[in-house]
Amino acid sequence: MKTKIAVAKGDGIGPEIMEAVLYIMQSAGAQIEPKYVDMGKEYYEQGHSTGMTPQSKQIIEETGILFKGPMETPKGGGMKSINVTARKVWSTYANKRVFKSLPGVETVFSKGNIPIDITIVRENIEDTYGGIEHMLTHDVALCRRFITRPGSLQIHRYTFDMARKKGAKKVTCGHKANIMKITDGLFLECFYEVAKEYPEIIANDVIVDDLAMKLVVKPQDFDVIVLPNLQGDIISDLCAGLVGGLGFAPSANIGDNISIFEAVHGTAPDIVGKNIANPTSLLLSGTMLLRHIGQVKAAQNIENALLKTLLSGFHTPDFHQTDSKLVGTKEFASAIVKNLGGISFDDDNYDFEIPSKIRTENLMIESSFHGSAEIMGVDLFIESNRLPAQVGNIFQVLLDREKWKLVTISNRGTQVYPTGSVYTECINQYRVRVECAEENGKASQQEILKLAVLVSDTYKICSLEMLMSYNGKKGYSLAQGQ
Ligand code: NAI
Ligand code: MG
Repeated sequence: MKTKIAVAKGDGIGPEIMEAVLYIMQSAGAQIEPKYVDMGKEYYEQGHSTGMTPQSKQIIEETGILFKGPMETPKGGGMKSINVTARKVWSTYANKRVFKSLPGVETVFSKGNIPIDITIVRENIEDTYGGIEHMLTHDVALCRRFITRPGSLQIHRYTFDMARKKGAKKVTCGHKANIMKITDGLFLECFYEVAKEYPEIIANDVIVDDLAMKLVVKPQDFDVIVLPNLQGDIISDLCAGLVGGLGFAPSANIGDNISIFEAVHGTAPDIVGKNIANPTSLLLSGTMLLRHIGQVKAAQNIENALLKTLLSGFHTPDFHQTDSKLVGTKEFASAIVKNLGGISFDDDNYDFEIPSKIRTENLMIESSFHGSAEIMGVDLFIESNRLPAQVGNIFQVLLDREKWKLVTISNRGTQVYPTGSVYTECINQYRVRVECAEENGKASQQEILKLAVLVSDTYKICSLEMLMSYNGKKGYSLAQGQ
């Protein structure tokens, strides 16, 4: 029985490398039946806002597996990236990328005999990638950054499960919780909560900038690393550099129902149609796909043939060295096919993923929290070009002192009232924090909105944020200097 997989050839070099890769996969005995789907730039231009036809969407949802070439996002015009949209629509919450030294691919580490084998799991849905952005004033842009408890628990659970199956000894969480105490703090808290269920795996955390430095200095110290979306994006490209560039790094976007396998590079418009594109990244994504659907032997067969081909010096132009045999995409694929089979399977990188199951209910919408949630006050984001003291004085007059107290005013996150420095440069947008006058007093939503209406007589309110307390614990950060 062949497994049906949806295949989107993609744009640019996509069709060339996809053809080469499917030829290798089928020659290696992979039991797959490609179902070609219409997806990419052309379908955007035909007016399909998701970049795919409804029929294609249906095929992908039925097969649960999408194998895709790179796709072009039309520039400007407010188009969302088709790649990002696909990952989000189908909740492929874990972006898993494997970075391994390949023989014949020369890097500073291979020259120093330092083997690299790092797996990065990047959260794929949340963080700043929601693309929820606004101009608060003509001078101020704001991006909302979501980190959720269910989303964090889900990504950490996936990571530890994968690490356990892979036999990994250590999982490291990268984050910036020292600065983003609430968002990254939540991500980190969930990490250690899940880690407790995997006592055989060492769990540690490293602040992301330090992690970047350590990865470059001692990459051999790392095994599996889990990160929020944006930090994961940057760190995974850094790791691609450690093993010789984007051409050698496969990527899988794993969800509970649908998973997407793709190369990490783009459509390479500069080399289209020249038969010189390197199919390795897409091929390695194909072997991740085969492992995902349980076809481990075919995956190993391909990986061994690829290694043998690289060792015998066949290189596409992007990683050509003076002593290697320069070949095109097709010749490279043929060389791999010639090297298939006849090699003992090494199964130390056994990595089988859970096959997709049909979705019946939304599991994340119900919160496990049943404690008290109370409104303590509000942060009003107002537009003003007055000096901090003037804004403060106006608020002191405006507020009903029996009900409200002005706690702090900040500009770009730094407190400028009641105390601050004249050297703090301000822009025309303040955050004014108002809490209940009474110690630990609580407010209703209506009271907050009435307050906003009152303030709106004097100021333009750009945005407001409730100050919440959960079981008595503050759900908001302090201003710098508060
Ligand atoms: P790119 O990855 O397409 O190209 C960067 C450089 O790497 C180019 O010089 C290119 O020739 C080279 N290159 C890339 N893949 C190669 C391969 N397999 N073999 C040999 N050389 C290769 O990145 P760029 O130029 O920033 O983006 C081009 C288009 O691709 C854009 O429209 C972008 O939106 C899209 N893109 C799509 C992605 C996806 O489908 N997941 C990911 C990244 C970009
Ligand atoms: Mg990237």
